[in-house]
Formats: sequence, structure tokens, C-alpha cells
Amino acid sequence: MRKYQQLLLVVISCISIVVLLTYKSENSRLKDVLTAVHFFSRKDVEELRLITNFTASNEVNIDFNRPLPVWQRIADSFYAYASFYQRNELMSSGGEILTLVTGKVGAVVNFRCKALYKDGRQIQGKFRFQHLNQENNKSDDEFKNYIFYCRLKSYSEIPYSIVYTDLSVAETNMEHKLRLRYITKNQENNAPQTQMTICLDLINFNMSSSFAYNYAYMLEFFLHHFVIGVNQFIVYNGDELSEDLLRRLRKEKDIHVQSLPFNFPFANNGTSTSSLREIITTDCLLRSIQRTKYALLLEPNEFFIPNTKLSNDNSVVYSLNSHNTIETAFELKTYAVCTDHKIILLTNNSFHDPEFVNSHKINIFRPVVPVSSTISNTVNLSPSLGFAHKYIDCLHVGKDGLHPWQNTMREDFMNNLNMYRREVDKLIAN
Ligand SMILES: *[C@@H]1O[C@H](CO)[C@@H](O)[C@H](O)[C@H]1NC(C)=O
Ligand SMILES: *[C@@H]1O[C@H](CO)[C@@H](O)[C@H](O)[C@H]1NC(C)=O
Ligand SMILES: *[C@@H]1O[C@H](CO)[C@@H](O)[C@H](O)[C@H]1NC(C)=O
Ligand SMILES: *[C@@H]1O[C@H](CO)[C@@H](O)[C@H](O)[C@H]1NC(C)=O
Ligand SMILES: *[C@@H]1O[C@H](CO)[C@@H](O)[C@H](O)[C@H]1NC(C)=O
Repeated sequence: MRKYQQLLLVVISCISIVVLLTYKSENSRLKDVLTAVHFFSRKDVEELRLITNFTASNEVNIDFNRPLPVWQRIADSFYAYASFYQRNELMSSGGEILTLVTGKVGAVVNFRCKALYKDGRQIQGKFRFQHLNQENNKSDDEFKNYIFYCRLKSYSEIPYSIVYTDLSVAETNMEHKLRLRYITKNQENNAPQTQMTICLDLINFNMSSSFAYNYAYMLEFFLHHFVIGVNQFIVYNGDELSEDLLRRLRKEKDIHVQSLPFNFPFANNGTSTSSLREIITTDCLLRSIQRTKYALLLEPNEFFIPNTKLSNDNSVVYSLNSHNTIETAFELKTYAVCTDHKIILLTNNSFHDPEFVNSHKINIFRPVVPVSSTISNTVNLSPSLGFAHKYIDCLHVGKDGLHPWQNTMREDFMNNLNMYRREVDKLIAN
């Protein structure tokens, strides 16, 4: 009996050794298999990342231009640009439509409004209006700007268009449906909010000027703001941008340029700048509510220069977030910097004219629905957090002469500015 047991042990030992040896050789083979598997899976990960990157850059393509705004005649003397629907969050039902309108000076505002629904229903709303240019009495424009409001009682559906009917005309068949843009984001359009969006005004800026004709300057405008962390640009009169420039910008897949038309119906002989600017400001803010935290209205020769990139934890955005939400505009100190045509990058120009007075203030806005009778609550932003440059040809310098603008800047701010410039330089060279 013992012998058999011993034999069994020997056999078991042999089997064990064989198994061990087999395992060892199989193991090295298995390793090869594993590396192969690993290789494939790495590739899969790569592909997945590609897909993720693709969707990621799709997601940040925030929809700023639908429905496309356009000046549309709504009555004999009135034209509408864009209409926005705001659901009434507090009363859990109903809502209000805001329409940007311009009309002939002296034309009587007497309208009725009704909202149209997808199910065919038409519901009468309560009409009221507000002048846009309360601060601008002395203008000799032939037009006046308004916001038309149409308040709607509760209905289970969301309206998709609005019709204004002029009651001061005896009988009219004119019924222009204006498509609505929704201020509140819906399921189909839930791209994440971006930090800052730039609305670019090519209406008041002289597009026949040598600045606008300078491809390098126009490119630097977009690349500089892209480098500091702005990916979204809404361009009013976007057709003024050259094909070459748009083609170049499309190469930067994270720069999103959305063009809006601005076929203003009244003559603009260069005197209506502030009236047109207030329409663009209002449209820019209504259009970007909930899509962007902050919006900046600039002309192409105006550059925003923040102390750090906007994505940094201690950037100006962080400071703005800590302000009270009733503060909706932050004024930037603006230096009128003289352009020297021998210097390639605009931000590398050193001198400013302290006596130059800009025709408008440059503000960072917190986009909100304009509330009647409140002039926006403006706060001066400390230049240590950010400021603006306006690049001009200094033809008529004040008697105080030119001054270097870098004098008062802190060293770390200056280092960051030099970094933005180097990055822009690198992007241009690409
Ligand atoms: C995806 O994006 C990340 C971060 O932007 C980048 O590092 C990576 O190279 C991209 N992958 C591909 C395949 O483009
Ligand atoms: C503009 O005119 C209105 C009435 O004509 C007046 O109430 C308002 O104070 C004026 N605004 C300014 C800034 O002068
Ligand atoms: C625009 O710029 C061009 C070229 O400098 C100039 O001739 C023209 O008068 C300017 N237009 C306006 C409205 O300032
Ligand atoms: C601009 O147009 C307005 C209204 O037509 C007119 O009163 C004004 O004199 C014009 N200004 C210039 C500089 O042509
Ligand atoms: C900026 O100007 C300095 C000299 O003033 C020059 O050395 C530097 O190369 C310029 N940088 C760029 C990016 O143009």
C-alpha cells in the first residue's frame, strides 16, 4: 500500500513539473498575446479619443445664429431684427417675447401681438414697448430703437413665432411671422456654457480703413483672443470678413466664428454709431444668455488683455464670478495704443496717447434680459485684472505726447502678456 502511495506522489510530482514547464512556456507566449491585445486596445483607445475629441469640439459649437436674425419689415415704418422667447420661471407658466425693433422717428407705436404654436393655435398676447436709446436724446437719426414685448399667458406648448399687427393702420393684410430664439436652453441645444464670447462689431467699424484691409491685424485679433481663452465669436456683418481670413481661421478647429447679417433698413452715414451699437449690444446679450458667462463687444482694433489666461483659476473670470449678480457690466480701462507699421504684432506696440477719447466704453457684460428703467449697473474693472487696447494711427497726438503703457503693469502680468504674444506669433507662423 505504501509503495502505491509513493508512486502516486512521484507521478503527481512529475505531472506538476510538466504543468509548471508548460505553464512557463505558455506564459511567455501569453505575454506576446497580451502585448498584441494591448496593442489593439491602445489603438482602440486612440480611436475613442479621436471620437471624443470630435464630439467635444462639436459640443463647444454653441448655436448662436439660429434662427438667423435679419431686418424684416413688420409694418409701414417698423422693422424687426430678432425675437427672443423667455419662459416665465417664477410663475411656472407663460412667458414673454422680446423683439428688437427699429422704426422711423415720429411713427406711432400701436401694436397688437399674437404667438403662433406648432399645433396651429394662435394666442393673443399683451403688448408693450420700451425705447432702447434713453441716454441718447440728442441724436439726429432718422430712426428710433425699441424692444417690443409680448406677454403670454400659460399654455402647455412653447410658441415658435410671433406676429405684430400695426393698429394705427386702418386695415392691413401684412402679417410677418418672426421666428423665435429661445433664451432658455432646451434639450436639443444643451452644449456646455462657455466662459467668454466676443461679439465683433463690423457695422460701426470702418471696413474700408487700412486696419480692416490689413490681413495680419485682422488675424491677430482672432488669434490673440483665442490664446487668452475665447473660442466663440459672433460677428455682426460677418460677410465683411475676407475668405482668406475665414479659411485660415477654420484651420484652428477650436475657433468658432458665427456670422450674422445686419441689413439695417435706414441710412447709416456714420452718425448713428451709438444707436447701432446699442442694438448690437442688446442682441449680443440676449443671444448669449445661458450660452456664455460673459460677453464682450469689440471692434477689430480693440483687444482685451487679461492678467492671466481665462482658464486659470485666478483669472479675471474668477473675480467677476465673485461680484454681485446685479452688477452686469464691467468697464475696462482702455489705452489708445499707436500702431507703428514696422512692428509686426499689434500687442508689441509700446506707446499710447492718453488724451485720445474713445467714442464708446468697452465693457465685459454679464448677459441678462434687459429690465425696463434700469440703466446697467457698471463697475470699473481694476486694470490689474485686465484692460483693453485700442490700436489707432496716432496722427494728431495731444500736447502731452505719447507714454509707454507698460509702466504701471506688474511683472507677472507683463510676463503673461509676453507669453500670449509668443503663442500668437507661433500660431501665425503655422
Ligand atoms: C485629443 O485631445 C487631446 C487634448 O486636447 C490631445 O492631447 C490629443 O492629442 C487629441 N487626440 C487626437 C487623436 O487628436
Ligand atoms: C431724454 O428725454 C426724456 C424725455 O424727453 C427725458 O425724460 C430724459 O431725462 C432725457 N435723458 C437725458 C439723458 O437727457
Ligand atoms: C473709412 O476709411 C477710408 C480710408 O481710410 C476713408 O477714406 C473713409 O472716409 C472712412 N469712412 C468713414 C465713414 O470714416
Ligand atoms: C446723416 O443723415 C441724417 C439723416 O438723414 C442727416 O440729418 C445728417 O445731416 C447726415 N449727416 C451727414 C454727416 O451726412
Ligand atoms: C517685440 O518687440 C521686440 C523689440 O521691441 C522684439 O525683440 C520682439 O521680437 C518682438 N516680438 C514679436 C513677437 O514681434
